[in-house]
Amino acid sequence: RRTLITAAAAAAVASAAPAAFAQAPLVIKFSHVVAPDTPKGKGALKFKELVEERSKGAIKVEVYPNSQLYKDKEELEALQLGSVQMLAPSLAKFGPLGVKEFEAFDLPFLFKDEAAFRAVTEGPVGQDLFKKLEPKGIKGLAYWDNGFHIMSANRPLHHVADFKGLKMRIQSSKVLDAQMRALGAIPQVMAFSELYQGLQSGVVDGTEGVPSNFYTQKIYEVQKHMTVSNHGHLAYAVIVNKKFWDGLSDAQRKILESAIKDSTTYANAIADTENKAAFDKIKASGKTTIYTLTPEERTEWVRALMPVHKEMESRVGKANMDAMYKAAG
Ligand code: LMR
Repeated sequence: RRTLITAAAAAAVASAAPAAFAQAPLVIKFSHVVAPDTPKGKGALKFKELVEERSKGAIKVEVYPNSQLYKDKEELEALQLGSVQMLAPSLAKFGPLGVKEFEAFDLPFLFKDEAAFRAVTEGPVGQDLFKKLEPKGIKGLAYWDNGFHIMSANRPLHHVADFKGLKMRIQSSKVLDAQMRALGAIPQVMAFSELYQGLQSGVVDGTEGVPSNFYTQKIYEVQKHMTVSNHGHLAYAVIVNKKFWDGLSDAQRKILESAIKDSTTYANAIADTENKAAFDKIKASGKTTIYTLTPEERTEWVRALMPVHKEMESRVGKANMDAMYKAAG
């Protein structure tokens, strides 16, 4: 026992010693809600790797995945308070912060493919939206893509009528709320960390989500049916506490900017293959039935969902929507 204490004390002294001489590293806490083994999780780890390498250890990035520190709504509050410095929430989660324009990204069937989404975020619309975060004490650094949503429930979802009366979990976006109502379902906002439990216990009947999340959260174990509908798109805004960012030295900012640039390229490049691989694993599990909409069924969904665009015009801004349509082509 005595030797143990001595050894532990010696180790503590040894590890504390270098820090006493070198300057303590700058620490960036990066919190997110998904598993490490997802496009966002891997993007965050790539960012960490690049920052630590390029700063030669002078900047340290601590990544906290899986809502370990904060859930959806709490993480944005924590960022504003400076309890964490960095996040990458979905674009569907900025409404409660008072920046409603991001919810335009949730409009059903807005993007025909990932290129259309990138045309929007990489152009002036993406930058204009980031400017709206600044009065909230937040600075937007990059957009990370995570592909198209599929729908799931314990009953087959082929026709719009199949949604009738289903309680569907949504992110906090009012556009997603309107989308589920347009399908005849009952939307329910729920934190991502509570989704598995919510589905398992029957608090909600179904959800929308991307394969990488459905796989890592084991959603396929508690949902008998999934429909490939591509009706909506999931993406993230990589954001930092603005005061923290403004307080950095030019040299520090340069390192972070280059790491953001390269981890963004990386995250966007892996999103599609990661989701395809997750989709194949869900299929191989045999635990859920996967269905793809026929062109006729898709037309039926489009008819039911397109009125959501008009309905949400005053919330997300007509000019904002028009700029998105134009950029998306
Ligand atoms: C969700 O809440 O469904 C997603 O935003 C989770 C995520 O960050 O991918």
